[in-house]
Amino acid sequence: MSEVVLRVENLKKSFGSVQVLRGVSFEVKRGETKVILGPSGTGKSTLLACINRLVEPDSGRVFLENEEITPKNVHRMRQKIGFVFQDFNLFNHLTALDNVRIGPMKVQKIPKEEATQIALEQLRKVGLLDKANHYPSQLSGGQKQRVAIARALAMRPKVILFDEPTSALDPELIGEVLSVMMDLAKEGMTMVVVTHELGFARNVASEILFMEDGVILERGAPDEFFSNPKTERAKQFLKKLSELYGEKPR
Ligand SMILES: Nc1ncnc2c1ncn2[C@@H]1O[C@H](COP(=O)(O)OP(=O)(O)OP(=O)(O)O)[C@@H](O)[C@H]1O
Ligand SMILES: [Mg+2]
Repeated sequence: MSEVVLRVENLKKSFGSVQVLRGVSFEVKRGETKVILGPSGTGKSTLLACINRLVEPDSGRVFLENEEITPKNVHRMRQKIGFVFQDFNLFNHLTALDNVRIGPMKVQKIPKEEATQIALEQLRKVGLLDKANHYPSQLSGGQKQRVAIARALAMRPKVILFDEPTSALDPELIGEVLSVMMDLAKEGMTMVVVTHELGFARNVASEILFMEDGVILERGAPDEFFSNPKTERAKQFLKKLSELYGEKPR
């Protein structure tokens, strides 16, 4: 039995009178990739943000390797959780190399030389060693997102959370980012991925979590979920997505 890396217990969150998370629980074992699917506005981003307390949940608990994340330890715990956003969130005034090594240097206090080695290794891994001295403005969207993934990896996270990492990309750039993510999954990285990429979900997910209206309405192995969704909402959602994007695996 592989061990649980991330455990989310009954997370709830309201914004004003709107309850966005209505009790979400799941766990991710080491090496698993959980893919979260669901219509817009159902709380997927809020869920990821509550995990490392970028958004403070109203109630519920989150454990990373059996240690609860609390307001007190969140700064230390957050260092162990990679976060890859839809819009990259790179520092535009820093080169790719500086974007990747700034975390190890400033947060983990790793000496510059060692941090540089770590950063170059991660840039190599995402296929961007030759762009180390480029600024974000000199990179394509796909390259920027790969730098963002290298930046997350450089912190040696226990788990990486991806919030629609390819949604801001032109179609021809999506594949290069998904391919890096697939390699990570194969190498045993533990990941939680919010995406609309059904091909990725089908091929890479250990389990699909289908969110609807602040709860996980349905969960299951990808084969089972895609070929035989149990709820009417999941059926409708898959139908709509395949009409919008096509269903072919990338
Ligand atoms: N900071 C906030 N203040 C108020 N309402 C918010 C805030 N963040 C999110 N919401 C609301 O919470 C709901 C869920 O938003 P969330 O971004 O989590 O959905 P989502 O599933 O990620 O949607 P999408 O697929 O469009 O990214 C939405 O109705 C949104 O308007
Ligand atoms: Mg979102």
